[in-house]
Amino acid sequence: MVTCMEKDQISLPIDEFPAKWYNIMPDLPEPLPPPKEPESGPSRMEFLAKTMLKESLSQEMSTQTWITIPEEIRELYIHMGRPRPLYRAKRLEKHLGLKKVKLYYKREDLSPTGSHKTNTAIAQAYYAKKEGKTTLSTETGAGQWGTALSYAARLLDLECVVFWVRSVHDWKIDRKTLMHLFGAKVYASPSKQTKCGKDVLANTPNNPGSLGIAISEGLEYAETHENTVYCLGSVLNHVMIQQSVIGLETIKQFDMIDEKPDLIVGCLGGGSNFGGIALPFIGEVLKGKRECEFLAAQSMAAPNLVKGEYKYDFGDVAEHTPLLKMFTLGHKVNMTPIKADGLRYHAAGPIISLLKKHDIVKAVAYPADEKSIFEAARLFLQSEGWLPAPESSYAIRAGIDEALKTEKAGKGKTICMNISGHGWLDLEAYREKLVIS
Ligand SMILES: Cc1ncc(COP(=O)(O)O)c(C=O)c1O
Repeated sequence: MVTCMEKDQISLPIDEFPAKWYNIMPDLPEPLPPPKEPESGPSRMEFLAKTMLKESLSQEMSTQTWITIPEEIRELYIHMGRPRPLYRAKRLEKHLGLKKVKLYYKREDLSPTGSHKTNTAIAQAYYAKKEGKTTLSTETGAGQWGTALSYAARLLDLECVVFWVRSVHDWKIDRKTLMHLFGAKVYASPSKQTKCGKDVLANTPNNPGSLGIAISEGLEYAETHENTVYCLGSVLNHVMIQQSVIGLETIKQFDMIDEKPDLIVGCLGGGSNFGGIALPFIGEVLKGKRECEFLAAQSMAAPNLVKGEYKYDFGDVAEHTPLLKMFTLGHKVNMTPIKADGLRYHAAGPIISLLKKHDIVKAVAYPADEKSIFEAARLFLQSEGWLPAPESSYAIRAGIDEALKTEKAGKGKTICMNISGHGWLDLEAYREKLVIS
């Protein structure tokens, strides 16, 4: 006899994949403070208009709640495996002795290049092609965004140039090979390809690099090369919009099992995977349609939400960008490299920052030695069987901590963690942090 068991994989049918992206801008509790020009120097808005996609800038300012996903992009999303499943972490729950608390996780790690970053890479590459560009330039920290954009560029027959934070570039050899296989040009940042990179190297020859420096290099490269456009993988509003497919799918998946999450947890660097899963839920909370809490997990190496100040700041070290109102540690701050280097950015995106100011988003930061993070990753691997990216392991750590705290208090809760990426190209970090020979 076949018994009816509760499935731990919740798969959304392809026909249910969203036709529109969600834009939280009109639903925010107060208007988002607009980008500002600094008091001196050339116009940063004009600079962005020259270096970025028209469509990205138009989505950046959009006050439309729903933005139709072009059919070609929907096809590419489905080609790369969307919708992605939601899992119930039954084995992890058992291991932790949870009786009242339920743990779920969304599988962005199942992407072809290993993370959620393909959701916006595909969209930006598509619009670049449409706007007649031939080359995409960008920065990358963990290497996940650089790989995602290299992949998207290849699918759309475009060139891709990646400036990769040196401290990560030097140890993630296999991820570099993957970018090369897609045909991208990859430079360790600070590099000698740009004036900004050369200036940094002149002052600090052994500079390990940062996302802020790599962004400056990507922008400068786009400005100085014909038909080249700069693509950003996090922070900005258009990236949050294009990542909303994560949360929109997750809402439908929870509806399918008649369950409502009480807490959504994601790791946070600039905010794109966190925003991607959380913003569609937050929109419903703001409209009074649901109750849910939101927790961003970050590193003490870059605790922008936890220790930053809410003020106008540049998005990059060379001050190419306009000033954006964000929780920031300061665009010139020195941050110690970590293994989850995708989280090492000085500021959280403007939308997430505004929601933090309103206490709708809460944040926690874990010690920069990352011991507890890699232990959580090992526990997840040994119970659920999937190897998370170091960045995603922050969400797992925070999810587990919240689960244990709630269970100890004798309460129930449904927690959903976003697994933003897999760790197959991060095994070097696992070897070092968990002392595996
Ligand atoms: C797997 C993964 N998760 C999370 C992040 C952090 O970025 P964001 O805050 O934009 O999601 C990165 C950044 O590189 C990443 O590679």
